[in-house]
Amino acid sequence: MTSATEFKKSVEQIRKEALQEIKGANELGSLDQVRIKYLGRKGSITSLLKGLKDFSEKERPVLGQLSNQLKGNLELALSTRMKELEVAVGQEGEFFDYTLPGRGGWQGKHHPITQVNDRVTEIFYGMGFEIARGPDVETDYYNFSALNFPPDHPARDMQDTFYIKDDLLLRTHTSPVQVRVFEKRKPPVKIIAPGRCYRNEAINARSFCTFHQVEGFYVDTDVTFADLKGVLSAFVWELFGKDVSLRFRASFFPFTEPSAEVDISCVICGGKGCGVCKQKGWLEILGAGMIDPEVFKAVGYDPEVYSGYAFGLGIERIAMLKYRIDDIRLFFENDLRFLRQF
Ligand code: PHE
Repeated sequence: MTSATEFKKSVEQIRKEALQEIKGANELGSLDQVRIKYLGRKGSITSLLKGLKDFSEKERPVLGQLSNQLKGNLELALSTRMKELEVAVGQEGEFFDYTLPGRGGWQGKHHPITQVNDRVTEIFYGMGFEIARGPDVETDYYNFSALNFPPDHPARDMQDTFYIKDDLLLRTHTSPVQVRVFEKRKPPVKIIAPGRCYRNEAINARSFCTFHQVEGFYVDTDVTFADLKGVLSAFVWELFGKDVSLRFRASFFPFTEPSAEVDISCVICGGKGCGVCKQKGWLEILGAGMIDPEVFKAVGYDPEVYSGYAFGLGIERIAMLKYRIDDIRLFFENDLRFLRQF
């Protein structure tokens, strides 16, 4: 039978040896051997605890506490070392199946708005339109005055237009490109002008503070409304298919006379009436008209000699119909889960 002093000595001895062995274990297997040696059913600590019963009631609690401290000590050291070894295994030795097929890289794609814009541009390009561009930051003159907007026209109101300075603003439509082209060129001009526009409108599922338009215009000596109908019909049939019909509804724009809004039969329900067309069977897709003589006068074209048509269509609107998207904001959030679908 051992004395209390001897018992304490062997507790310290076990602690020293065990901690050294735990530190020295270089793989999970040998670490487990150390655990069994000390904490296993026949381990040194287990037999130490079993030996407690031979001590007096006075000595037992003190020695018991010492043994339990040792046990806790070693358990902690073991789990710490185990974590270290697990990390190392994960880094180097983990089994890896080299025959698994690779994940494949992400391939970049064009944004759906770019795709629709390119498609629309391509269709008009195929019908002989040249491509022109104008600046996003415009002057009041190009965005409004030269397009025959009276000085007090509500569209100039602060509510619709983002003003930078008194005379400088973010263009609210692509129509100013008409004026810029007319100033530089003599007819015939047959042009499409794609670009971004901005309006200070309440943001919701149907309208956003920025959007894209494609402007189209053709000026020559005898351009008629029939030419406009022809070119727009050809465009719609190319984009949405031959069974879609067009409807020209009388409308108003300061820079065209006569003016029209153009509807197509609903591409979702075929004209029967559904949620998308609000039971009307028709969807508005663009504004158009014959260029007003006032615009020609502003750029020095003789309205007695020349006539022309213009139209402006919204890219988001067309993309929403083409891909059945019900919220315009999705185009601007750049959520990859949305964008990867196109
Ligand atoms: N600029 C007009 C708009 O943004 C559309 C339009 C363009 C109308 C050309 C007629 C001619 O609402």
